[in-house]
Amino acid sequence: MSKAVDLAIVLAAGEGTRMKSSLAKVLHPIAGKTVIHHVIDAVTPVAQELSVVVGAHREEVESHISAIAPAAKKTFQSERNGTGHAVQLALADTKATGFVLIVAGDTPLLRTSTLQEFVEAHTELESVASVLTAVLPDPFGYGRIVRDDLGAIVSIVEERDADEDQKLIDEINTGVYLFDIAALREASKKLTADNSQGELYLTDVISLIKSSGQVAVAIQSNDFTETLGINDRSQLAECAAIMRDRINDEHMRNGVSIIDPMTTWIDSSVVIENDVTIYPGSALYGHTKIESGAQIGPRTTLVDVTIAKGASIIESRVAESEIGAEATVGPFSFIRPGTRLAARTKVGAFVEMKSATLGEGSKVPHLSYVGDATIGEGTNIGAATIFVNYDGIEKHQTVVGSHVRVGSDTMLVAPVTIGDGAYTAAGSVITENVPAGAMGVARGKQRNVLGWVLRRRAGSKSAEAAKDAGATELGSPE
Ligand code: UD1
Ligand code: CA
Repeated sequence: MSKAVDLAIVLAAGEGTRMKSSLAKVLHPIAGKTVIHHVIDAVTPVAQELSVVVGAHREEVESHISAIAPAAKKTFQSERNGTGHAVQLALADTKATGFVLIVAGDTPLLRTSTLQEFVEAHTELESVASVLTAVLPDPFGYGRIVRDDLGAIVSIVEERDADEDQKLIDEINTGVYLFDIAALREASKKLTADNSQGELYLTDVISLIKSSGQVAVAIQSNDFTETLGINDRSQLAECAAIMRDRINDEHMRNGVSIIDPMTTWIDSSVVIENDVTIYPGSALYGHTKIESGAQIGPRTTLVDVTIAKGASIIESRVAESEIGAEATVGPFSFIRPGTRLAARTKVGAFVEMKSATLGEGSKVPHLSYVGDATIGEGTNIGAATIFVNYDGIEKHQTVVGSHVRVGSDTMLVAPVTIGDGAYTAAGSVITENVPAGAMGVARGKQRNVLGWVLRRRAGSKSAEAAKDAGATELGSPE
């Protein structure tokens, strides 16, 4: 199927002054993608060619566009002489003929389906110049659509140029247009900066085309939220919340349970199968993929994580890792990049892992650090075990075999290997390999200094308790 319009122009040269940011306005992220990336994604399916007008933050915006839309043409607008000027430059840069769609780079909620409907209406009405409009509860700041007695569009008047009556109009210009390219070229030559901002307004093209006797129409969209633009941080948050709701609604329609959609933030790139449950306060980012039956949250953050069927991640943060089927993580654990948990593994409370593989059915239940390690199957890592992977200069590997029992509070000083079926004694500092089936013991032998408390802490509550239990200054009971 051929794409409906020959060319799309995205206007993105503006300063974005009201964002008060060192980052270009169109490069701020919403749901894991930049504002302009959302716009380009919406436009791409309907346009054969894409052209972006850049200006402020030129390098950053251009390199981002090269990354997300390599085929797009970039036109540089060195001075910000208005939307009409930006379009003149884009047209001078292309030989395209036919129809052009023009959108602003700061309206990330626009949907492809709305653009398609707009194109259909434009074609059906045999229009030469069409503007997409919306009725807003608060039209302040937008260009207003002035219609004649028969309802036909006459002109678009900017807020700053509007008289009191025009300011009462609640139908606004969304900044989305369709033009016959030849007619637009002609009309844009006639633009003047005769307005309060001293700029060339693209909006004036509509009345110019109309007064030349050609068909110009205003087509109203029914969902005004789609055309909200981002000029400041409040609008950024408002658009992000609308995007969040859209994404959550789609997952819920696909059979995902989201207990509290208001506090659940899911990037548009995340893939979730049905019968997954997401508890409140969770955030799923990047290339995260979650298989059926998994339970995520509450208060869990996943960044680029793959989660297999039936796994559960409770109150934890996991990044760039793979979690196997029916594995459990948390509460309160931190799984860092390069971790692979096999099926039916358990990582309990207050565990940090990094670049580590945990074999099927193995457990790290409590208070441990596991870094740069490979652990076999059916192994248990006792509470408070630390994989001592860093000697202050370099990181080293630890290998733990299958069906190993690492005693609580073991320090495994890497590089070190614990053979299959081996044990370590609680509190050991293991610096040498433990062969298969051996018990590694590496700690001082215990010595009891009898009567010490009665001699050295005489009169204390401890001494009293010891005395009551039969201890004397010379000895203690068995
Ligand atoms: C513009 C419209 C207004 C409409 C509103 C919708 C004009 C004159 N006004 O106003 O009728 O209701 O959008 O959001 O067009 N840009 C350039 N180069 C420039 C000026 C702007 O590329 O020289 C780009 C901006 O980066 C932005 C878009 O054009 O993406 C719109 O510009 P902006 O200044 O935001 O226009 P508004 O005042 O919002
Ligand atoms: Ca704007």
